[in-house]
Parts: sequence; C-alpha cells; structure tokens
Amino acid sequence: MAKLEVLRYPNSVLRKKCEPIETIDDAVVQLARDMLETMYEDKGVGLAAPQVGVSRRLIVLDVGDGPLALINPEITSAEGTDTMEEGCLCLPGINVEVERSARVRVVGLDTSGKPLDIDADDLLARALQHEIDHLSGTLIIDKVSKLKRDLLIKKYKKNQQP
Ligand code: NI
Repeated sequence: MAKLEVLRYPNSVLRKKCEPIETIDDAVVQLARDMLETMYEDKGVGLAAPQVGVSRRLIVLDVGDGPLALINPEITSAEGTDTMEEGCLCLPGINVEVERSARVRVVGLDTSGKPLDIDADDLLARALQHEIDHLSGTLIIDKVSKLKRDLLIKKYKKNQQP
C-alpha cells in the first residue's frame, strides 16, 4: 500500500468530470486500497479518485462503520435537507456550512464487482454526496453564495502562502 498525494485547490484535475470505470482490474483495486490508506492517514472520512489525480468514478469512505469503496456510484433518490459544516482535504483550513439531502440511496459496485445498494442517512449520506460531487468537479466552495465563496477563497489563498 502507498499513501498518495492529495491535490489541492485550484488544481484543474479537481474540476474535471470523471470517466466511469469499465473494468475492475488490479490497478483499480490497488487504487482503492491506496486511497483508503491516504484517507485514514489524512484523517478524512471520504476521498474521491480525482483528489489523488485520477479522473475516474471511484470513491472511498469510512464514517465509523468500516471502509467502503464504491465504483461508479450514482445517487438514485434523495429526500429531506440537512445543513452541516464540512471540510475537504483539497481545501485545508476551510470549513463550510453545506446544505445537502438528509437521506440518499446510492448504487454502485464494490471492488469485486458486486452491486451495492446503500440507503444512507446522517454522516454517511453527507459523505456520499460530498464524494460523488467530486466526480463531477464540484467542491464545497461551490455550495455557497458567490460572496461567501470569494471570501473563503481569499482566506484559503492567504493560508496557503508560505
Ligand atoms: Ni472533498
């Protein structure tokens, strides 16, 4: 296993739309393992492939119930709303109140190709939506008003200066 480098905003890979994974080969399985290791080391609860520079539809999560890797995840239904503060490993030092669906159903494949159908609420629902957003190039700063976003980016850039 290897810890991977997590890209930071404004790296352009973070803004790209990810391609579906057609074949679950050894490289995909290894990538999922390395992403989990990276996520645990960086104390995240989720990580999406574009965050480590791979523009493919793969996410990993652990909200306290053990590791979960999901290939080609899709939200098939969503209900309710819930607002909570979120951070992102690509935007260190930035926390944003994000409104999301309170409950989502997500389908995808695990790394052995088995279909998964997940009915999620609370933190799992939130983490799934956050990571799936990454697959279409959406970041937490996109979830707030332009005024708030400009302020956050200003703060972030100031923090990033050596
Ligand atoms: Ni993130």
